[in-house]
Amino acid sequence: MEIIRVEGIAKSYGQHQVHKELTLSIERGECFTLLGPSGCGKTVLLRLIAGFEVPDAGRIAIDNTVVTDPAAGINIPPDQRGLGVVFQDYAVWPHMTVFDNVGYPLKIAKRPKGELRDRVMETLAMVGMSGLERRLPSELSGGQQQRVALARALVANPSLLLLDEPLTNLDANLREEMRFEIKELQRKLGATVLYVTHDQEIALAISDRLAIMDEAGRIRQTSNPWEIFERPTDPFVFNFMGIANFVPVRRAGESFLVGGGEQLIPWEPPQGDAPKWVAGFRPSDVQVAPEGTGIRGTVKRASFLGAMMHYLIEVDGAHLRTSIETHEAVAKGLMFKEGETCVISFRDLLWFNADSLAEVVKQ
Ligand SMILES: Nc1ncnc2c1ncn2[C@@H]1O[C@H](COP(=O)(O)OP(=O)(O)O)[C@@H](O)[C@H]1O
Ligand SMILES: [Mg+2]
Repeated sequence: MEIIRVEGIAKSYGQHQVHKELTLSIERGECFTLLGPSGCGKTVLLRLIAGFEVPDAGRIAIDNTVVTDPAAGINIPPDQRGLGVVFQDYAVWPHMTVFDNVGYPLKIAKRPKGELRDRVMETLAMVGMSGLERRLPSELSGGQQQRVALARALVANPSLLLLDEPLTNLDANLREEMRFEIKELQRKLGATVLYVTHDQEIALAISDRLAIMDEAGRIRQTSNPWEIFERPTDPFVFNFMGIANFVPVRRAGESFLVGGGEQLIPWEPPQGDAPKWVAGFRPSDVQVAPEGTGIRGTVKRASFLGAMMHYLIEVDGAHLRTSIETHEAVAKGLMFKEGETCVISFRDLLWFNADSLAEVVKQ
């Protein structure tokens, strides 16, 4: 069942149109991530849903109640929308202690003192902030302040949580821990989470479904993490979900040749007809070997990155990136040096229409 419906939203600031005709539907109980590059309009959308901004056109409904509809003169204030919100700048009140910051929503709701205290302590424990309740925000690190903001959003057990990049200031371990906590909490409480980020890894790890937004504020694909990663509908999504190789090819009858040479791409040719095709694959989908069958190339660059080895390989004027686990490279004799030749095959390869790719390159 739908809990948030965003319908045909438009929003401009002066000449700059951030959203044109945005439509989005979020189901009750799911963790839905909006993933897109910086500046694409994620925060603006969250502020529209929370009621801190008013759209120029369109409608937003929460739990089947229209909360925003400028054409009908409807605009329900933020505090009546029943949301827990953590904004990107996690504004905690500087003059209030951690305890008072976190307890604020319960105080406003006039909850009894004892309940307030228990709930604040419980929530602080959940975000790893026990013992710091008497501190002022100025006595906390950025990451700790971010956790105070998160605790404040969670304290009233909202059934709907809007989280705008809530983990960006945390160090890697804590980020992973909090990511897990948010997911656990959402499962336990059956809460709906709308999570906004530019971080692909978090999005894949946390989401039931995610929507990929491009620079122009258009949603390119909405699906589960696996489909988004493995079955991207266009090159923008493919490229955004990790480093991608896009290699130009030339048609030779039913087959395709790499770059400017005469070597065939060892992969089933594309279905359908496009004037020009491009082969897309991830570095981890390229297999390298010292010899054997496949396309021949030369290692132009070899980079040791600890757990991984990265190679840049030239094949008849085309350059492709590959990555392999260092352990595997050592065990299988695949520690190539720059200038050495190798043979390449593919684990996976997607065909893209070159016209749709031009758009990605342009952006
Ligand atoms: N209050 C505002 N006034 C003018 N421009 C704004 C305002 N808020 C956001 N923008 C612009 O809208 C675009 C989208 O911003 P934002 O939603 O913050 O992006 P992000 O996806 O990084 O969260 C940006 O170009 C930003 O400069
Ligand atoms: Mg933002």
